[in-house]
Amino acid sequence: MDFNVKCGDADKLRSGCVVVGVSAPRRLSAAAERLDKANRGQLTELLKSGDIGTDCGDTTLVHSPKGRTQARRILVVGCGKDEQLSPKSFIKLAGDATRALKNSGATDALSYLVELEVEERDLAWKAQQIVMASRDAVYRFDELKSNSKAPKRKLRRLSIAVSSHEHAEAAKAGMDRGIAIANGTDLARTLGNRPGNHCTPSDLAEQARTLKKAHPALKVDILEQKDMEKLGMGSLLSVARGSRQPPKLIVMQYHGGKKSEKPVVLVGKGVTFDSGGISIKPGAAMDEMKFDMCGAASVLGSVSAVAAMQLPINLVGVIPATENLPDGNASKPGDVVTSMSGQTIEILNTDAEGRLILCDALTYVKKFNPEVVIDIATLTGACVVALGHYATGLLGNDQPLADALLAAGQTACDRAWQLPLWEEYDESLASNFADMANIGGRSAGTITAACFLGRFTKDYRWAHLDIAGVAWDTGKNKGATGRPVPLLMQYLMDRANG
Ligand code: BES
Ligand code: MN
Ligand code: ZN
Repeated sequence: MDFNVKCGDADKLRSGCVVVGVSAPRRLSAAAERLDKANRGQLTELLKSGDIGTDCGDTTLVHSPKGRTQARRILVVGCGKDEQLSPKSFIKLAGDATRALKNSGATDALSYLVELEVEERDLAWKAQQIVMASRDAVYRFDELKSNSKAPKRKLRRLSIAVSSHEHAEAAKAGMDRGIAIANGTDLARTLGNRPGNHCTPSDLAEQARTLKKAHPALKVDILEQKDMEKLGMGSLLSVARGSRQPPKLIVMQYHGGKKSEKPVVLVGKGVTFDSGGISIKPGAAMDEMKFDMCGAASVLGSVSAVAAMQLPINLVGVIPATENLPDGNASKPGDVVTSMSGQTIEILNTDAEGRLILCDALTYVKKFNPEVVIDIATLTGACVVALGHYATGLLGNDQPLADALLAAGQTACDRAWQLPLWEEYDESLASNFADMANIGGRSAGTITAACFLGRFTKDYRWAHLDIAGVAWDTGKNKGATGRPVPLLMQYLMDRANG
């Protein structure tokens, strides 16, 4: 789907469908007003007769409007009754509009939704969100269906309309950002949706190499098992023991900032399938553990978006990638392994494998002398219990960094919520046989998992994002969401803007 920015009046520009907003009870946006006039009051009439819905996200398609309009159709989008829209409502109605356009028969459309007022958000943000919500609405994962039917008349182009030339530049900037972030989000979604046999650690490494081809500014290194052995990554390697697939440690570097500037480092959990290992999971919904690499996918998506936008920052993306499977050679409960940091770990539960691979990656990234380190992981089922599917769990050792991430999540409407990382919780990781166990007690599972990681991140400012509840949807719309790419990109853009 292509996007562009157009400047002109709603009744004068040619299109397959023109999209305008109307609030309750009968408040027309400026563009709607123009169309109403040009069509002898047809919109007012339809509003009066109750044929146009004005609840937020209602969509009404008016075919062959009866006056002089250059558009073949008018799509009226309900905006609810408030003077100003909340950012969330705006994103919802932008998505609903595109879902309606998809089924309208129009192959191109002209959207006047940026003229709607949104609380504390500017024009560029609105243009960006129209692109992102639209791309979300048309996203499909059908690469594994043998006869996937693409819609006959496809929506090919969405033009973002602004009233005057002075607004075009901001709209274009927002649109370009939206396209880059949507591409990154789509990449994260698609990698997440691929099943374990189509997305192995080697496939993730291949994906990183593909990114390098698209963006020569990227530097990509893949560390193999023998490299990890040399580095002493006994914890990461202990998870890979049960798998026939070789583990990979993927390292991507992007230099867009000053040479002297320390990098932001993103570390993404890349367990391409988590059976639990010897502490095997129950069968119900085990297929969803193909999504256990969504942290890794969000790192690949963010790195690719940053490179496409040429953001003036330095960024490193690191992905420890492996499967977690039971095998005669797999780690057993009670085994003790030595991490790259030198700390020893008693593996009391082989299903707490995410922290075992992340801890070595978190030790490894010290070599980049990071400004901050953010890890992203589908780490604990407990996070789903605590926060449900709305918020990413956020923990860390640096409040300014946590605050910046919380704010970025608010701006992007991809929110996180902070949990405490108090030392009382850390005590539950005590082991009789090693420096620590890889699980705490029954309570506060998200926090004790973060406490475990915290033992490996003492040398830098660090935040941990537990995305177990947000990385994918279950039920009828089962599939990866691409979260938290929007949050991460907002954070990185905020940084780039100083
Ligand atoms: N990948 C899972 C976490 C998970 C489970 C995410 C369900 C989303 C939905 C992780 O590796 C895991 O198995 N964690 C265990 C930790 C426990 C053994 C301490 C969990 O959450 O049950
Ligand atoms: Mn697990
Ligand atoms: Zn896992």
